[in-house]
Amino acid sequence: MPAIELSAGADDIEEAVRLLRGGALVAFPTETVYGLGGDATSARAVAAIFAAKGRPRFNPLISHLAASEQAAEFAELDERAREIAARFWPGPLTLVLPRRRDCAIALLAGAGLDTVALRVPAHALAHALLNAVGRPIAAPSANRSGRVSPTTAAHVRDELGDRIAAIIDGGPCAIGLESTVLDLAGLRPTLLRPGGIPVETLEAAIGPIDRPPSDAAAAPRAPGMLESHYAPALPLRLDALTALPGEALLAFGAEPPSGFAEIGWLSRSGDLAEAAANLFAALRVLDRPEFSGIAVMLIPERGLGAAINDRLRRAAAPRQ
Ligand code: TXA
Ligand code: MG
Repeated sequence: MPAIELSAGADDIEEAVRLLRGGALVAFPTETVYGLGGDATSARAVAAIFAAKGRPRFNPLISHLAASEQAAEFAELDERAREIAARFWPGPLTLVLPRRRDCAIALLAGAGLDTVALRVPAHALAHALLNAVGRPIAAPSANRSGRVSPTTAAHVRDELGDRIAAIIDGGPCAIGLESTVLDLAGLRPTLLRPGGIPVETLEAAIGPIDRPPSDAAAAPRAPGMLESHYAPALPLRLDALTALPGEALLAFGAEPPSGFAEIGWLSRSGDLAEAAANLFAALRVLDRPEFSGIAVMLIPERGLGAAINDRLRRAAAPRQ
């Protein structure tokens, strides 16, 4: 079904809110680029974002908020972070911050990292939507994987029109370039992606900012680097058909093999979006010292399965 076209009217915003609360995907304008929005607190909605984009991997996503005061609900903000937020939000700046222990943003949105990326967009329509929905909205740029970011509703319709519930048309984006991503989770502020706010402007306010090496700047913090951060403490054994003594099983599909000490489900119905949504949480639940290891059933390599397998292979790879 083609995406519904929505505009700035109160009824249309209400419709977008209803869709987002129900776990559907709604593309919306920001001052940088159009975002492909989904409820950041729902692992299923976040998994659907990855599926719609056709992303081969789970890149961590930015969660969008209506107001900077809301950031403290999800992340730890030190003095420096509070200052930067007060000064540059709303605006084209994304801050990578330590995730609060009780953070309601789905683990999948942060690709299992212990940080969250937050942004308060400076766009009247985006603000109205975020304010009305009352939840953080995860949104990568609303393009298919490997394409450039969309700056009009028509760009979004061309690439994603048959894969999402609605598109809110707010006209062309004022900035047309993605937000600057600044990592404040480490000791020194680090630029992860140059973007809508020049780094010099940020430095004038907060002092020196580390730049990644020039090759990394072109491909801001490669997913591979990020993904190597996440691995369970227990050894992971892929494509398992039978149980080894003391192993837990990560199961996919209706008929798991028997003999395992415990079963954690990715998806009983063999649904890849559900499996993706459950992946990080299920691994965490099974990562307990009472088990000898975690065996994982074969996951088909199609659709989101490729991303799930990519993550599982990294988690199963020999540790550095
Ligand atoms: O302007 C923008 O930032 C747009 C609008 C929609 O907000 N969004 C956007 O999202 O460009 P996306 O997913 O295409 O890019 C997000 C960037 C990626 O480079 C990702 O690696 C980085 O943010 N990122 C997100 N969370 C991160 C985290 N926890 N740690 C490090 N990098 C993170
Ligand atoms: Mg993008």
